Amino acid sequence: MLTKNLVVLSIGFIGFVFSLSAQILTPTSKAAKDPGVRGGPAGAGLPIPGLTPGQQAFFNAGMDAFLEIDSVQGTIPGTGSGLGPTFNLDSCGGCHAQPATGGSAPATNPQIAVAGKQGASNSIPSFISANGPVREARFKFNSDGSRDGGVHGLFTIGGRSDAPGCSLAQPDFASALTSGNVIFRIPTPTFGTGLIEAIPDSGVLANKSANQGAKQMLGISGRENRNGNDGTITRFGWKAQNKSLQLFAGEAYNVEQGVTNEIFPNERSEAPGCRFNGDPEDATHFDSVTPTGTPSDLVLFTVFMRFLAPPAPAPDTSSIVNGRNLFSQIGCGFCHTPSLQTGDSSAAALSHVTVNLYSDLLLHDMGPGLADNILQGGASGSEFRTAPLWGLGQRIFFLHDGRTKDLIEAIGAHASPSTTAGTGSEATRVIGNFNQLSEGQKQDLLNFLRSL
Ligand code: HEC
Ligand code: HEC
Repeated sequence: MLTKNLVVLSIGFIGFVFSLSAQILTPTSKAAKDPGVRGGPAGAGLPIPGLTPGQQAFFNAGMDAFLEIDSVQGTIPGTGSGLGPTFNLDSCGGCHAQPATGGSAPATNPQIAVAGKQGASNSIPSFISANGPVREARFKFNSDGSRDGGVHGLFTIGGRSDAPGCSLAQPDFASALTSGNVIFRIPTPTFGTGLIEAIPDSGVLANKSANQGAKQMLGISGRENRNGNDGTITRFGWKAQNKSLQLFAGEAYNVEQGVTNEIFPNERSEAPGCRFNGDPEDATHFDSVTPTGTPSDLVLFTVFMRFLAPPAPAPDTSSIVNGRNLFSQIGCGFCHTPSLQTGDSSAAALSHVTVNLYSDLLLHDMGPGLADNILQGGASGSEFRTAPLWGLGQRIFFLHDGRTKDLIEAIGAHASPSTTAGTGSEATRVIGNFNQLSEGQKQDLLNFLRSL
């Protein structure tokens, strides 16, 4: 045990002192194991504390809109309108569901049922399964060899009883799979995203320049993704490609559900015979007599997510405390920064709050093992935003494509040496440190991750 600790020490770096007393807390040699999805209450899906009554009312209306199921023309009782012509699901809340509304992919994939809803004639692509993650698909290249990178809707409204006369084929996913032209993304959770939005760029940059020496010794750099027009730091999505919650909501409404809106007013598919509504399909209700009835869904989605509280972590145990220390000592925390601060916000509830997101919001080169060859903003094919780890305890699927349900595999996938396909992962040395830990120490670290 002690010899092992000394090995860890020697591969550590100057400035980091391992506390040996902390490391003998769990003197087991049993192989470390991901404890799995944490049971108990969700501890997520609630509004952030300190909202005004008006903000609370809009939050509630926003949650209703987020959960609303859309049909093509809104003619099916209880549905909104605008679905399709192409789509991945018919509500925000269906994909962002685990462990509560706003979260990530649920245990049972709702994409199986939606494929045949209302008589639709969609086939299920091979990468979608009943117990697998919700997925959207991006194509790397167009047939002429130029870059694509965009999302190709899995399903169409063809055959649905509320889309009479529409005939529209699904993309040819089988061929795209055979030629290696398709990649997948799973939903990122939206808990606490209003706080992420409220972190000033200066806070992201100050954290980026902190601990430079130690980061360099581990091979960690990282850079921000920026909006091409206003030059500010973008922070949402797997590649930090999107500027704001409202922009993401507008894009998601059109891309995931096919609902045109005031930010994305044009249909992605203008197939003849498959258009049933005027654009934008979601718009401000100018003649509403209630305040919460006036904004478009787009605004309501945004308010809901902006005021959605971060997930509550589990209470500390000695193993969790030890795991948290190890997480920092071996270098995970240089990318997964435990906390950043919000600045002055026009909403008091979001002003000057410590945000325990476990991310630096920067892009890191993760090497050929995770690379998806999709360019977004300044992000290269192998760069990803450090995934925020809050809420990890109740997540089912991990990494941008949902390739694993096992935290040990998710950690292992961070390491990838450089090959002819690209430079190595910035995380390779930190994962080397992880591999040097005793099984008991690894267990503490996993217990800590599942406490988040
Ligand atoms: C078919 C499933 C699906 C549906 C429906 C869906 N999303 Fe998502 N959502 C995703 C995926 C996948 C991502 C990650 C996309 C990426 O970065 O490539 C995501 C990411 C997001 C993010 C970014 C959060 C962050 O921190 O990165 C926001 C915000 C969001 N979605 C909002 C919405 C809203 C609002 C709706 C409804 C209009 C919606 N989503 C509907 C799958 C879905
Ligand atoms: C060089 C920066 C970097 C370091 C160091 C790093 N990570 Fe990550 N981590 C990332 C990025 C980027 C992702 C997203 C990768 C992807 O999805 O392709 C990620 C994803 C994850 C995920 C999956 C989260 C999700 O939302 O699916 C877990 C768990 C995780 N990291 C844990 C760790 C642990 C534990 C360590 C230390 C042993 C560590 N990371 C070190 C950058 C880093």
